[in-house]
Amino acid sequence: MSVHKFNPENRKKLNSEQRKAILPPAQVLMDIGIESHTVWADIGCGTGYFTIPLAYEVKQVYALDIRAEMLNDLSDSLTQLQISNVEVLQSGESRFPLPDLLVDGILTSLVLHEVDQPNEFFRELHRILQTGGRLVVIEWAKASTEMGPPLDHRLSVQQLDDWALTAGFTKVKSWQWTENFIGIEYEK
Ligand SMILES: C[S@@+](CC[C@H](N)C(=O)[O-])C[C@H]1O[C@@H](n2cnc3c(N)ncnc32)[C@H](O)[C@@H]1O
Repeated sequence: MSVHKFNPENRKKLNSEQRKAILPPAQVLMDIGIESHTVWADIGCGTGYFTIPLAYEVKQVYALDIRAEMLNDLSDSLTQLQISNVEVLQSGESRFPLPDLLVDGILTSLVLHEVDQPNEFFRELHRILQTGGRLVVIEWAKASTEMGPPLDHRLSVQQLDDWALTAGFTKVKSWQWTENFIGIEYEK
């Protein structure tokens, strides 16, 4: 397993006010532009930073993560908030327990820099997405910023594009949120 995996003991930090200030989830989803009749997967969902706001916007969300601790916190929040359109599933490193062509959109936020087998991971993203579906990758910008992982753990846009294009995606557009985060949309 990669040495750079997020430590679940730090999972409360994922919902900090400091994080919401530099990566405001509602603004990010508005920028992405989500259609209400669609079905999404949040891969590497953590404790649901994007899963929960996404659930209010769309028909159905599949929330996947490799760590049970993250998924347990998310399930508790979903119960408390009485959200019923999210299915929470534990995934393998590059194996998503979902059928082919299931979803219209995929969000994967701050996951790829932790992934052990990026080419396999992108192949799985491609497999579960509808033809014409949207893949949105959010990552740390490859820059030295006050918060976040060291520069050599961050991924360049070129690297992300290479993996995505190798898996069969086409690049559509990109965003930047503060100096810290980039978003890239690909289409299948
Ligand atoms: C930094 S957290 C981000 C969580 C969430 N996406 C967010 O933005 O708050 C990274 C998450 O990716 C998960 N993860 C790492 N590798 C993964 C993989 N191969 N498949 C699915 N989840 C993975 C970790 O367990 C962790 O919950």
